[in-house]
Amino acid sequence: MTIIVPSATSRRAFLAGITGLMSGSMVPAGFPRASADSSKAAKGFRLTAAPGRVSLVGKSHPDTDVWCYDGRVPGPEIRVRQGEPVRIVIENNLAEDTTVHWHGIRLPIAMDGVPGISQPPIRPGKSFVYEFTPPDAGTFWYHPHADSLQQLGRGMAGALIVGEPEPVPVDRDVLWVLSDWRLTSDAQIASGFGNGMEAAMSGRVGNTVTLNGIVSDEEPVRAGERIRLRLVNSSLARIMALRFDGHHPVIIAIDGQPCDPHEPDGGRILLGPAMRVDVVLDMQGDPGRRYQVIDDFYDGLSYWLTQLAYDGGPPLRAHLLDQPLALPRNPVPEPDLTTAQRYALHLQGGMMGMGGMTGDGASWAINGMSMTGDGQTGMSPLLTLQLGRSYILTLHNDTAWWHPMHLHGHSFRVLSRNGALVPDRQWADTVLVPSKEAVDIAFVADNPGDWMLHCHVTDHQVSGMMAILRIA
Ligand code: C2O
Ligand code: CU
Repeated sequence: MTIIVPSATSRRAFLAGITGLMSGSMVPAGFPRASADSSKAAKGFRLTAAPGRVSLVGKSHPDTDVWCYDGRVPGPEIRVRQGEPVRIVIENNLAEDTTVHWHGIRLPIAMDGVPGISQPPIRPGKSFVYEFTPPDAGTFWYHPHADSLQQLGRGMAGALIVGEPEPVPVDRDVLWVLSDWRLTSDAQIASGFGNGMEAAMSGRVGNTVTLNGIVSDEEPVRAGERIRLRLVNSSLARIMALRFDGHHPVIIAIDGQPCDPHEPDGGRILLGPAMRVDVVLDMQGDPGRRYQVIDDFYDGLSYWLTQLAYDGGPPLRAHLLDQPLALPRNPVPEPDLTTAQRYALHLQGGMMGMGGMTGDGASWAINGMSMTGDGQTGMSPLLTLQLGRSYILTLHNDTAWWHPMHLHGHSFRVLSRNGALVPDRQWADTVLVPSKEAVDIAFVADNPGDWMLHCHVTDHQVSGMMAILRIA
């Protein structure tokens, strides 16, 4: 399936005009109680969600009106430590409700940030205190779970980095938050969020990709250094496949969870919306040279994201480090595959897929059920799982589009794709399921609550590809 986005071969052409993805129309309770951990002093943060104005494209274009945290895009990088309590006050200065979801963190349901399901929405002018103790070290992120299309699409997202107890031996720890925007020629965010046609296809793929909030020409590096590069895809819909010219990135973690260090298939790092990949990059290029980082996920629409720009100085070390870097495992419970109960989940709908669009504003479904918006109070669960039991879910993608499927509150093992075993059965919290493929995931239902399972292409989520898994 070729998805048509404005040609990005010359990135400067991005803003030349805004083109739609398809021809034609561009129309557009009782809540669980937080059990605060008061035993240890929590590390405190305070973030304000509000409109802001930032430079996304650089001096050649006007600043962009955004919605963001603390006036910044991406939001402030929150750095905490594994096993240490965190307290984050979110103040809502938007003109509408919001919440924050701490994507990938295995936390209590009351802190999960789903309005109407795990907490009441944070009203304008009000605040909410999130308190949790991250059990896993790794690269996570945060984003709203209310009016998600607009709030995420207008800039509300940031990285949440949970540090290992022992420092990891690299020369630098570098974070790239990658975000896709649909901008007009004067660098403003294009309207038309929630376009029904688009929702039933690729979702809102944009025309401008920023690295840490700005279109990047180059990122400075030094010959011989070893960096840990944390990649976060905070896009609404854009899937990325990154290649590092002249370099051999080694994947050491996926969705925050360590894996056997390995080079990606074909040298391309696949990064669907909401996914994170940590790589070790040994800077083997020549001093003074530049090397492109290319995203070529969509056929014929490759563009360069940035360039690794080597300074002219002598290499940091005479010989590159050659010992691999393996991260310590996180305490994720191991599913028991011999006793696990199996369920088949069919991802359905969309244009050119089976079933097409249903009449009620939903374009997508999971096993015939469509939960729309950001979560609906009183929605009955798709599955009720027994606390402490192991489960294997087969996600069958019956549609013509790819879906990055995310489960809240848990990390799962990706066991197999189309029946073929996945090496190392990597852990993940968001798994990309290509069109017409099936993926087996396994996890222990160890976290009680009503947890969302949804596609992280936000248009797909809000138009029905979402369900609740109840664990009790
Ligand atoms: Cu990052 Cu419910 O999502
Ligand atoms: Cu999807």
